Amino acid sequence: MTLNKKRIAVFASGFGSNLQAISDYMHNNEVNGYISLVFSNNPEAYALNRAKKMGIETYVLKPKDFTGREEYDREIASKIESEKIDLIILAGYMLLLTPWFASRFRNKIMNIHPSLLPLFKGTQGIKDAYEYGVKITGVTVHFVDNELDHGPIILQEGVNIDDSDTLEDLEEKIHRVEHSLYPKAVEYFCSQRLEIQGRKVIIRELEKG
Ligand code: GRF
Repeated sequence: MTLNKKRIAVFASGFGSNLQAISDYMHNNEVNGYISLVFSNNPEAYALNRAKKMGIETYVLKPKDFTGREEYDREIASKIESEKIDLIILAGYMLLLTPWFASRFRNKIMNIHPSLLPLFKGTQGIKDAYEYGVKITGVTVHFVDNELDHGPIILQEGVNIDDSDTLEDLEEKIHRVEHSLYPKAVEYFCSQRLEIQGRKVIIRELEKG
């Protein structure tokens, strides 16, 4: 069965190392999709430079140019719809999506979070786990719903915190795992292997032929 290549938009506010990792993986492997747009709320985001270097269209809207967050998200949504985007990937996107946006693209938005959810939600997942003193933390890729860091979990991988690890060591370990885990989740989506059953995401075997 041949599937149409999925069109992907990556939302990023900062460094964009996950954008890079996903794009590199897609180039080096036969993934049934491609990144056709990189969106940012931040004109200074290094992720935009990466996108330009890779020849990917960029799109920037500043929240302060809009009267409210829903108006802002509606403008983004019309771009996503006119570009016929199949999947939105949040990769270090530092704005909360409005419930309106999350509902409109239900089961079509993925996020990566640097902890084993539901532990250590929020913007400081790595630091919070480190300071709490847990021995194992990790990375979660999940679909986005109306609650922060909450939607159905696609993939998780644990990371050991050794006694000798500094916070910087842990950050490095986490990012390494992120860069291998996120592309895999995207690949599964593109080959239509993800089936959402309530809170659970089943990863189906690849169909032959
Ligand atoms: C990652 O640690 C991700 O887990 C979190 O934001 C960070 C983004 O990093 N959501 P980058 O911009 O992809 O380098």
